[in-house]
Amino acid sequence: MRAPASQSLLRVEHLGVGLRQRQRRQKRQHTIRAVEDVSLTVNAGEIVGIVGESGCGKSLTALSVMGLLPAAMELVGGSIVFENERLDQLRERNLNAIRGNRLTMIFQEPMSSLNPLMRIGRQLAEPLVLHGVSTAGAIRERVLEAMGKVGLRDPETLLRAYPHQLSGGMLQRVMIAAAIVCRPRLIIADEPTTALDVTTQAQILRLLRQINQTDQTSILFISHDLGVINQICDQVLVMYAGRIVERGTVGNVLWHPVHEYTKGLIKSIPTRRSKGAPLPSIRGRVPALAEEKAGCAFAPRCPAAHSQCFLEVPDELALSDFHQVNCFLADVESEMEYVRI
Ligand SMILES: Nc1ncnc2c1ncn2[C@@H]1O[C@H](COP(=O)(O)OP(=O)(O)OP(=O)(O)O)[C@@H](O)[C@H]1O
Ligand SMILES: [Mg+2]
Repeated sequence: MRAPASQSLLRVEHLGVGLRQRQRRQKRQHTIRAVEDVSLTVNAGEIVGIVGESGCGKSLTALSVMGLLPAAMELVGGSIVFENERLDQLRERNLNAIRGNRLTMIFQEPMSSLNPLMRIGRQLAEPLVLHGVSTAGAIRERVLEAMGKVGLRDPETLLRAYPHQLSGGMLQRVMIAAAIVCRPRLIIADEPTTALDVTTQAQILRLLRQINQTDQTSILFISHDLGVINQICDQVLVMYAGRIVERGTVGNVLWHPVHEYTKGLIKSIPTRRSKGAPLPSIRGRVPALAEEKAGCAFAPRCPAAHSQCFLEVPDELALSDFHQVNCFLADVESEMEYVRI
């Protein structure tokens, strides 16, 4: 099933993900929306970030693209097109030909995706074998190439090592090597640096940037940390309670935020000046999935909310070709923002 050709590498439109819930008394299933109306585009060579607090639906969006939603979750709408192919309509077998090959994913916890009982060499060779590289020489060449790209030195020793013999930073490099060994077009990185110390985090970010620049590999980069997004991404999507609330180039969204949620996230970035001082975080918390959400889900936490915000969900408003926001206050706000520049 081929979709019309387009410039974009990945195009997700109006994605909906639901959590299946069996209602005991009525003996029937209903779904609670965990992700609602999420649309995003990743162009070739681009790094696109998704940011938002814990529980906003970042990972579910990524897992939907990979076709790896948890058992209790299901796609309830929308389309996912990767390289002009509808991933959401592909059979498992056809999806497997793309997944781990042209489309790969790296996770926060390397140990959760590496096999503790398998030597590093075999783990790096496996994706190649699965995707049709068959001669030992070619496999070895590609594994060494990937290890070189992620800065893993002394490959001979490493190939024979087991995961528990490596540090967190090394493991993360091994995982990135496994993700790039098949030369993918798109890597989805879900909080790849969150579990690492600051120095290793900076090295891994630099490495991903380098892979993006030298191989033109696109990256969908998920983080709850706007500072990290600012360092690495070209475009950013801000998610709140399963929906996108603001999107655009990093320069627009992070330097001229319009949505009160984005502004709150930015204020929460620790700076040198604020060290030791309490974090000016956003009051309240992300609503639970099961909570009724009328109107804009952020309204109960928003310092500027008015009556309409509690009744209707705001549509997306284009402030320019490079900046869109879902907020009823955006008209006035954006004018003020741009007058100030
Ligand atoms: N397997 C599951 N069963 C039930 N609820 C789930 C499951 N996976 C995710 N959820 C719920 O769906 C919502 C979105 O989850 P998701 O993992 O996408 O959030 P996230 O933005 O990635 O958060 P984090 O920053 O903590 O990783 C949350 O409310 C979460 O509790
Ligand atoms: Mg997550």
